[in-house]
Amino acid sequence: MTARETAVAVAHPNIALIKYWGKRDEHLVLPVTDSLSMTLDVFPTTTAVRLDPDAAADHVVMDGVLARGEVLRRATTFLDLVRERAGRLERAVVDTRNTVPVGAGLASSASGFAALALAAAQAYGLPGDAEQLSRLARRGSGSAARSVFGGFVVWHAGPPDAADPDHASYAEPVTDAHLDAALVAVVLEEGPKPVSSREAMRRTVATSPLYRDWVTDSRADLARMHTALGEGDMAAVGAITERNALGMHATMEAARPAVRYRTAATDAVLGHIRRLREEGVGAWATMDAGPNVKVLCASADARRIAARMRETTDARVIVAHSGPGARLQRVTA
Ligand code: DP6
Repeated sequence: MTARETAVAVAHPNIALIKYWGKRDEHLVLPVTDSLSMTLDVFPTTTAVRLDPDAAADHVVMDGVLARGEVLRRATTFLDLVRERAGRLERAVVDTRNTVPVGAGLASSASGFAALALAAAQAYGLPGDAEQLSRLARRGSGSAARSVFGGFVVWHAGPPDAADPDHASYAEPVTDAHLDAALVAVVLEEGPKPVSSREAMRRTVATSPLYRDWVTDSRADLARMHTALGEGDMAAVGAITERNALGMHATMEAARPAVRYRTAATDAVLGHIRRLREEGVGAWATMDAGPNVKVLCASADARRIAARMRETTDARVIVAHSGPGARLQRVTA
């Protein structure tokens, strides 16, 4: 690319069915456990990157607002890594647009860094396949490693004693999944969360007496999840998803000081989901670093479950299906 060209990439968020919660290496963003997610077909992030040979600093605009502070620092640190790998020095002009509230536990950092990784790699002329792009996106935000791919995706933590741990930790599609699933997002709050997921997971690993057990459990959950996805067993996939998420929240609520993202409204939605199951409707909950709930279900049940959520809550309810991996939209002069 020449300096005048702009690379534009689009990526979608993903929601983990088996969660990533805890790093074993903060700098390389290496997780303690493997995780498994579904990429969504809603809330894409579109990111444009252009090199500016005359600029002294990166210029980052997010949703029309000039980035400063932590947002700018994370973007610049990430671009420094791309520049180092590409052997380039130019600063970048980045324009990124989310369609999801940022920082509300709806995975905007996953779509954001997957789109930035792809656009920046293209703009700086960094070669690499999707697996390499996943490793790169991981350095921006762990969950972004998974948004590089569509559908069900597994992110390998990599063996703890790997000679090259950065290389050993990447995501790839789950190729033998036979499930047409949907996620009904029940958006209770759209504001930024009180504690970032980065800080919350750090605190959980360092202080939660429940964390080690969750790690052991999560490894077993992942193995069972692979089997359940392969067999297209919605009930098993749902049950594993819900207990993995509830376990993650229990570990952080036992951290010192405790991190609590769940609110009374979250618990009320969990109650509605339980009642749906008692009525014979296959619906299971998952929650991330925020109060919002995503209801996992068979695609065929999504509309009915969304209607029930609208009846029983004041939340904004969005139905998401399986979505695509990150892709380049255009390279313009
Ligand atoms: C609860 O990927 O946002 O959504 O790597 O520190 O940027 P960093 O964390 P991030 O954490 C996501 C945590 C989660 C679970 C998940 O997506 O697996």
